[in-house]
Amino acid sequence: MSRLVIISNRVAPIAEGKASSGGLAVAVLEALKKAGGGIWFGWSGEVLAETQSEPNLFRTGKIEYATIDLSIRDHDEYYNGYANATLWPLFHYRLDLTEFSRRTYSGYLRVNALFASRLAPLVEAEDRLWVHDYHLIPLAEELRKIGLSTPMGFFLHTPFPVPEILVALPNHATLMRSLCAYDLIGFQTNADRDAFVHYLVVEAGAEMLSEKLFRVHGRTIRVEAFPISIETEDIVKLSAQAEKARQAERLRESLKGSELIIGVDRLDYSKGLPERLLAFQALLDNYAGNRGHVTLMQIAPPTRSDVAEYQEIRQTLESLAGHINGAFAEFDWVPIRYLNKSFSRRNLLGFFRAAKIGLVTPLRDGMNLVAKEFVAAQDPADPGVLILSRFAGAASELSCGALIVNPYDIEGVAENLQRALSMPAEERRERYDAMIEVLSHNNIDVWRQRFVDALDQAPYTDSV
Ligand code: UDP
Ligand code: G6P
Repeated sequence: MSRLVIISNRVAPIAEGKASSGGLAVAVLEALKKAGGGIWFGWSGEVLAETQSEPNLFRTGKIEYATIDLSIRDHDEYYNGYANATLWPLFHYRLDLTEFSRRTYSGYLRVNALFASRLAPLVEAEDRLWVHDYHLIPLAEELRKIGLSTPMGFFLHTPFPVPEILVALPNHATLMRSLCAYDLIGFQTNADRDAFVHYLVVEAGAEMLSEKLFRVHGRTIRVEAFPISIETEDIVKLSAQAEKARQAERLRESLKGSELIIGVDRLDYSKGLPERLLAFQALLDNYAGNRGHVTLMQIAPPTRSDVAEYQEIRQTLESLAGHINGAFAEFDWVPIRYLNKSFSRRNLLGFFRAAKIGLVTPLRDGMNLVAKEFVAAQDPADPGVLILSRFAGAASELSCGALIVNPYDIEGVAENLQRALSMPAEERRERYDAMIEVLSHNNIDVWRQRFVDALDQAPYTDSV
């Protein structure tokens, strides 16, 4: 029987209800559950003195896990280094933060080869492989070197940069050539797909066979956008219950009637958090009537804390939140609740439902599932307003109902906050209806099914 084998660097925490580690893990776990099971291969999250030779194998429900521990050196060069200090900033248009190092690039290739050698014995001829994200671009090429000819698909959860940015990477040609060892390559938005296609044609000399098929480096590959989504129906149901949960009740009581603006993001420089706090400060400055009546709760769990830029963003935010609170707080009201910890999704849904505004203002984001979850968690009769950055992948689907903002325009975001705070219920409902309609059509099931159906057609010969 053909099994779905998922490979990603990050594997979701196994314990149900445990706070998750980002959108990829949340979405893949849901997709695997809805698919009725499969194999999930990836990093265990453990760092040991030596890389261990055999994967840890275990099963929960219908999902079989195979994870490997990484050595200190592999973790440093591959994860902290090339993945998160080179590709992550580059793909998020932050050339100023991008490090270029041959040492970390060779560590990245070494770990991809290691993943391939540990994974290959577990794969059966009928299986389909679905690889996720920027950590594992060279994996298909490594697997093909070992002799695997199974269909292999790749999905990029981050944005894909325009060629002018990508070519700053010294080894872009080799890296992109290895990406072409996949049969199917999926992106979050049409803009990301177009950027890759532009690169393929201009830099790699690809021939366009049809809208989705390309002949490049002696292979035929399929390139398409598959916007990731959420388990909409489940979230709608769960949120109605989560509203009554103890934590959500405590939150509402603690607000004492003050309106809640919520932000939930890993503490990442791509999320536009300093700009967001400044926009909230501008709201209090420019619309003083909100003082004492509006609270921003920013949940920001630390992430990738070994990488210097992540330590810096944490310090910047601590001092900014402290500064704004110092300037505006009263004995009975603190404007910003800044929390450096993660919450289970169930708790988050209750918090989303208690909020008047979801403030999602990344400077760049592949999709941003929080934006979609915020909408699905709202009370249809009295929904909150989503304020969404034009630079989040989600904007291409949710512009029908969200207030779309430029996160660099601090005063503009403040204006939109004011607009959302005073928006009549009828307009809020209209906007919610438009967005929930989109999310009920493109849910996590549709995303998985579309990708797997496309992968099932590999190898590609006819035009698609
Ligand atoms: N999340 C969570 N607990 C937290 C913070 C975030 O469960 O304390 C989840 C959130 O609900 C969402 C995911 O982590 O499903 C974050 O995905 P998103 O696409 O918004 O951003 P990413 O972290 O992948 O950049
Ligand atoms: C983003 C990336 C994922 C990553 C997640 C959490 O969603 O696209 O690949 O898993 O952030 O980051 P981490 O480094 O903790 O896995």
